[in-house]
Amino acid sequence: MIKVYVSRFNKEKDEKPHLECYEIEKKPKMKVLDALKEINDKYNEDISYRSSCRAGQCGSCGIKYKGNGALACKKEIQDGAVIEPLDFPVIKDLIVDKTEIEEKVKNLDLHTRKDHNCQIETNFNNEDVKDTKKVRSCIECYSCLSTCPVVKHFREEFSGPYIMRYISKFSMDPREQDKRLNDLLEEGLYNCTSCGKCGSVCPKNINSFGDAIEKMREVVCKNNLGPLENHVPIKKSVEDTGRSIKVEGEGFIEEVNKDKENIKPKKVALFTGCMVDYKLQNIGHALIDVLKENNIEIDIPKGQVCCGSPLLRTGQTDLVQSLVDKNKEVFKDYDTVITICAGCGATLKNDHPKFGSKLNVEDISEFLVDKLDTNKLKYLKKDVTWHDPCHLSRSQDIKDEPRDIIEKIPGINLVEMKYPCQCCGAGGGIKSGKPEIALELSKDKAKMIKDTGAESVITICPFCQYNLKDGLDSIGLNDVKTMNILELLKESYSQEE
Ligand code: FES
Repeated sequence: MIKVYVSRFNKEKDEKPHLECYEIEKKPKMKVLDALKEINDKYNEDISYRSSCRAGQCGSCGIKYKGNGALACKKEIQDGAVIEPLDFPVIKDLIVDKTEIEEKVKNLDLHTRKDHNCQIETNFNNEDVKDTKKVRSCIECYSCLSTCPVVKHFREEFSGPYIMRYISKFSMDPREQDKRLNDLLEEGLYNCTSCGKCGSVCPKNINSFGDAIEKMREVVCKNNLGPLENHVPIKKSVEDTGRSIKVEGEGFIEEVNKDKENIKPKKVALFTGCMVDYKLQNIGHALIDVLKENNIEIDIPKGQVCCGSPLLRTGQTDLVQSLVDKNKEVFKDYDTVITICAGCGATLKNDHPKFGSKLNVEDISEFLVDKLDTNKLKYLKKDVTWHDPCHLSRSQDIKDEPRDIIEKIPGINLVEMKYPCQCCGAGGGIKSGKPEIALELSKDKAKMIKDTGAESVITICPFCQYNLKDGLDSIGLNDVKTMNILELLKESYSQEE
């Protein structure tokens, strides 16, 4: 038997929706839709829900499953499932009123306009429409809208992935003269954190951030309508120094390479990223200490530059090819390149190949998980929780390795927060461009961290680390520490016996 919690609401008798618990027998591969029918039959209930095709094609059965959008006909039911309506006004139980979004689509005039002077009305080829193809298969289940952390708090400022995808479909259509860039900006093109959660719940695997929002940010920049004011100095900094942050004093790479002229090159190299080179050198030093404890030798080669992530995410792409080429040259003789920043790792793995560089890149957690000398790890009594950076968990599909590492430390108690994979709000140029959005999202995470009672939150992303700290401070949790996983390992290795 499994327990299933279903949101119930009947306007005749309820003031607001509430969860009811039902127990049913779980049959193999049972879907949410089957479970709802089973509950209605077994309990003689009348839970209302929509469905039509029962094959993941019509989108009518969209619901929220454990807080994320999903199709009831496709999602397999599990014990403890919480089934709620999508984030629209509720008509009854799981049936919602979607008028708001339908009106928006209508007002945006989202159809191919007749009054254009297009030369390629009928005569366009695959190449002309390859970008629109990636965003065309939406079945309007609205799962993405009810999953987006920004829409949850800033519905007025951000219409969400569904609308971004919809407008960009027309914007990228070769038959359209009006590229609808102002519509995109008005609907919040720069209010997305690039967390990728929308893509992860989309039944058609549409990557709304990468294939719609990021792409349109690039077009907006090329048309001098973007980026946001605070994004401009980032590009200038990369242009002038190769780094996206202020270059002051001696960088980490310079410091660790002193007196190393004639040392035999190693097989593994570290890509530091801008933050570790010029702001968070302590993480770089923690890495060196951890590697030393495990007799692992690596190079930290000079000449490496920004991975380009801050430019790619904000649409300022014209410098990216030169950054990729420089890094490709620096790392060309290494078997493996390790990264200690989720954003850099995701960019090197997912974006650089599009610019002609395919290095063998591993996040530090992937690299270390089977190499750690656990006999040397010393007892460390601590309650910690793990924050999944979006660019690690979704962009690199790495969730288990950091947890495995943390659990290897004797004495550590890893307490999971409610939604460890929920975006903290640091990415996509939001922290610099829209700090109020970044702060609001980090408060959500801070509250989840508070609920765990952990004394430290561990992660592998300098940007998340900073943003989580801001969120924790803003709710008065100044004593909860934000730590990189390498600092935690270093602390264990350096404990007294
Ligand atoms: S019933 Fe059609 S997509 Fe689920």
